[in-house]
Amino acid sequence: MSASAAPNELLLNVSDYARAARAAMEKKAFDYYEGGALDEVTLRDNTESWSLLKLYYRVLTGTGARDLSTTVLGQPVSMPILVAPTAFHKLACTAGEVAAARAARAAGTLFILSSLSNTAMESVFPETGSPRWFQLYIYKDREVTRELVQRAEAAGAEAIVLTVDAPGWGTRERDVRNSFSLPEGLTVENLSPLGKGEMPEMPGSGLAAYVRANFKSDLGFDDLDWLCAATRLPVVVKGVCRGDDARRCAEHGARAVVVSNHGGRQLDTAPATCEALPHVVEAVGELCEIYVDGGVRRGSDIVKAIALGARAVLVGRPVLWGLCVNGEEGARHVLEILRRELDEAMLLCGCGKLSEIDSALLGP
Ligand code: GLV
Repeated sequence: MSASAAPNELLLNVSDYARAARAAMEKKAFDYYEGGALDEVTLRDNTESWSLLKLYYRVLTGTGARDLSTTVLGQPVSMPILVAPTAFHKLACTAGEVAAARAARAAGTLFILSSLSNTAMESVFPETGSPRWFQLYIYKDREVTRELVQRAEAAGAEAIVLTVDAPGWGTRERDVRNSFSLPEGLTVENLSPLGKGEMPEMPGSGLAAYVRANFKSDLGFDDLDWLCAATRLPVVVKGVCRGDDARRCAEHGARAVVVSNHGGRQLDTAPATCEALPHVVEAVGELCEIYVDGGVRRGSDIVKAIALGARAVLVGRPVLWGLCVNGEEGARHVLEILRRELDEAMLLCGCGKLSEIDSALLGP
């Protein structure tokens, strides 16, 4: 499963890590991380659309040292690059989510733990710094969902990130072809004490079957209301692509929204997140914070996200590739690559602070 460490000097960028991970991982696991829904149009668009935006940099700005620090929901982070919730880190390396959590702590940034982790939240949260958030799917069984929220609170989570783009599972044809399920010995560990830790092995995607059996499909704003009332933690809604939805989420109590199409894994042909982001920014105004994920592979993508109005970006697959190639150190290196590229892009754009990155950079 896990690759032998490759020397960091050969791994200059996120794409190098992706290639190294592909070479090192079992196809079934790599395809699960890498794949998107159906024709993978949104998956490709997410990445390509960032590169199509052009940066009209400023010159002679006297920009000196850059300050990349910011806050998310009032909590300081060293850079606007946050670790997205992604499932099943033990497919990448034996230390799994603990390695990812430690990498985020070393980088001084937010770690969001997926509810679909191979390690229980009680073992992961002590390994990460603050902020640390917990990602939640709403289960059909309300008591299961409530229990997850209560355990997350007790384990030290500082916000709940509710994923709303998965009332059903987008068909990931790679997983269907590979009959993807968790290998022997791995479980959906947070759910094990609740009797929902096992994923079926079957022809087709075992994960899709797990989701069909367990996730609530008729999700509504009443579920968001329920969650906001059920927890004392701030609620972040992840998976919006429309301004009107995002605004409604804020009006229903969300303290932040993540413009996300689940890494192109849910509704194929949904817009690239960089196309959706400006609509959300316009509709939400100052009502809540806005983050974006999907296809962020270069520091310049992050400048563009901030120029479009995001407060920070979340990165998912790049961290998984880092984990696969070199465990905690690999994930840390990926985060540092993105930090260095962001810093360089800011210098070359003439921006010393994140607040100096504005929409004027995106046009003549
Ligand atoms: C989990 O969130 C997945 O997209 O597989």
